Amino acid sequence: MISTDFALAKKLLEDEQVIGLPTETVYGLAGNIFSEKAISTIYKIKQRPSFNPLIVHIKDISALEKVAIQIPAKAYQLAHVFWPGPLTLLLPKHPSISNQITAGKNTVAVRIPNHPVALALLASLDFPLAAPSANPFTRISPTTAEQVEAYFQNEIPLVLQGGTCKNGVESTIIGFNEDRVILYRYGAIPIEAIEAEVGEVDIYIQNEKNPEAPGMLMKHYSPLTSVIVTDNISAEIQKQANKKIGLIVFQHASSAIELKYQQVLSEKGDLQEAASHLYQALHHLDTLQLDLIIAEKFPDEGLGKTINDRLRRAAEK
Ligand code: TXA
Ligand code: MG
Repeated sequence: MISTDFALAKKLLEDEQVIGLPTETVYGLAGNIFSEKAISTIYKIKQRPSFNPLIVHIKDISALEKVAIQIPAKAYQLAHVFWPGPLTLLLPKHPSISNQITAGKNTVAVRIPNHPVALALLASLDFPLAAPSANPFTRISPTTAEQVEAYFQNEIPLVLQGGTCKNGVESTIIGFNEDRVILYRYGAIPIEAIEAEVGEVDIYIQNEKNPEAPGMLMKHYSPLTSVIVTDNISAEIQKQANKKIGLIVFQHASSAIELKYQQVLSEKGDLQEAASHLYQALHHLDTLQLDLIIAEKFPDEGLGKTINDRLRRAAEK
């Protein structure tokens, strides 16, 4: 059920149940971090492997010391600039955080979401919320309550309605090693904005070079339709001429494909706008019974890096 019933959401969470929660990035599947029952339910309905840890959502900066310890100065510096917002920090976990949440790791992922509904709910509860993105394992993350309901209507009692997610891609994940700052996931805050605050950031993302990097697996954010990413759309369309093709492009539609099969992510060439439309575009094209989705490679800067990362994972077999 989709509803704006805030009191019901609070009651369900206090009763160790799992609900769909709006945030500024994507919707989450939220539960009480101290409830073994709620956390098991999250892993189960998401079909998430038990080795993949959850993000903890807190209500304000003063709650940070209840979930993490040995917090570096640079972490506070970033938190003060970007929270509430789409920045997740990996920090040594507080003993009160279970191994179930962190999948046995000694770090915990934590952020303050910047969404009025999520913030009000967190403020009304006396526990933080674990909330992975509200999609089944490897599928596209939802940016509307309706998509969460389509994925999980038989498994969760409530999706709290919070409108379309403003950022539309997940948070940027940052960790620390001694004095170094490390990027673990490209996300809604561009890496350049982090570097402007704390200097050079090392990049440690799972790909062919770093198969062991923690965090998301290579195949992720996948529509059911196959995806190819290219920097030459016209050549790829010609090569695939016998197929029913959908397109994802940055600014300019192609004259080679019917417009109804195309998703232009930002006519004015704004990467932030493009990122906010990406998942919705993949969701939509996935409903059109296509043989193939061809996506244009985005400029390799700012949120273009995040979009390219997601497209690359969507294209992974
Ligand atoms: O924007 C977001 O971060 C959304 C909204 C709902 O807050 N949440 C989200 O959660 O994207 P999820 O679970 O889909 O992605 C969290 C990622 C996972 O890939 C997980 O492996 C990684 O964070 N992660 C969590 N805790 C970690 C840890 N202690 N060490 C390394 N990676 C961690
Ligand atoms: Mg996810």
